[in-house]
Amino acid sequence: MRLSAVKGTYDVLPDDQPRWRALLRSTAEVLGRAGVDEITTPVFEHLEVFEKSVGESADLVVQKEMYTFEDRGGRWLTLRPEFTAGVLRAYIEHGMYTWPAPVKLWSAGPAFRAENVQRGRFRQFHQVNCELIGGRSALLDAEAIALLVDTLRAAGLAGVHVKVGSVGDVDDRERYNAYLRQALAPVADELSEVSRERLRLNPLRVLDSKDARDQALLARLQRPLDLLGPEARAHFDDVVAALRRWDVPFEIDPAIVRGLDYYRFTAFEVHHAGIGAQSALGGGGRYDGLVANLGGPDVPGIGWAFGIERVLDALHGEAVALPGRQRPLAYLVPLDQEAVGEVAALARALRAEHRVEHGYVARNPGKGLRDADRAGAKVAVLRGARERADEHVVVKDLRSGAQQRLALRALAEHLRSVERSEPNPDEAPRHGPESAR
Ligand code: HAM
Repeated sequence: MRLSAVKGTYDVLPDDQPRWRALLRSTAEVLGRAGVDEITTPVFEHLEVFEKSVGESADLVVQKEMYTFEDRGGRWLTLRPEFTAGVLRAYIEHGMYTWPAPVKLWSAGPAFRAENVQRGRFRQFHQVNCELIGGRSALLDAEAIALLVDTLRAAGLAGVHVKVGSVGDVDDRERYNAYLRQALAPVADELSEVSRERLRLNPLRVLDSKDARDQALLARLQRPLDLLGPEARAHFDDVVAALRRWDVPFEIDPAIVRGLDYYRFTAFEVHHAGIGAQSALGGGGRYDGLVANLGGPDVPGIGWAFGIERVLDALHGEAVALPGRQRPLAYLVPLDQEAVGEVAALARALRAEHRVEHGYVARNPGKGLRDADRAGAKVAVLRGARERADEHVVVKDLRSGAQQRLALRALAEHLRSVERSEPNPDEAPRHGPESAR
């Protein structure tokens, strides 16, 4: 049997690694400047951590999608389907509520959901996640949304589409759910099966239906934003006003529905037209009450996450030039057995400054140059008996074809000048036609 990666998982190959690194680097920069520190939490947690957060979702979608298992000690553990619950668990466990508020934390890594696999939807995927914990001010909501937009822009994305809405407080949601139940009761038979089920368990989620007939039935109804109570309405207006003041582009979505149920007040999503049906790059919202639910003090918070795979897909669609795999500056070719050890030692020394690779067996010049070419090196450095006799090397520039004999002691300086003449492309993404690399 040929072994392969599990359905819904994939390998990030060397060619793709620099894009990931560039995205994480620009993210760390933007968030760091805003005072957001990085935190790494475990990939798995006690099942309760998620039961008390995402598992509360009335339609249980996320809970059904969780990878939960019993370990040998009889503990029930879950691979995180998202970061918020684990980050808040750590926030409580380490008493971060005693730190100056708000506590701002970001993370990146894999998350796991047993979903139906399609473009942009995997079973192991990766998120960048950001939480601003310990503030009720609408400014914090606006800051969270602005940071998401800034992070995606710093990654090189132009076409992000931000939707902001509010799901209200607990009472508003109750009221809206009751309204929906009543308004849809006479037409319940006409709803799709999924929506009928949602109407029973969590009416709000009906708004999320992809079914055209459902949407037609919903068109004449009031949206959650129309029925907000005064507190949620005032909060929402303040968020909107701050975003306008800061020139953050967004549109109001009066019927925003998030897949997770812990949201209160502000909820938002960022979409991109170029990545197919799963067009959400990221999303988030306020989760007042969640810290208390997880056993901590009653501390409010807001946060978001974006999917790394979807953002890279969107960058690809926008033809943003992203860094490719690094290639060696020099490839050292041993022309005889003795040179094999010599080039290995030489490479070790040169690696203090450059990416240098070498052959591990003696080659004739033709094959050695082909090896250097396949490695993608800018220059090949050849060493054999003749070069040993007078402590030289032969250096061939693989782009121009120019070849010269060079004293061994002059090699380091020569490589420095090659590097200077054509530095490795900066890892920051640039807009424009994709580079040939
Ligand atoms: P979410 O909307 O469930 O929110 O996920 C955020 C993003 O993760 C999505 O917009 C999408 O880009 C990506 N994503 C989700 N599921 C998959 C999947 N199966 N395959 C590929 N990408 C996926 C949350 O996870 C919340 N914890 C965000 C948050 C943080 N809210 C407050 N703080």
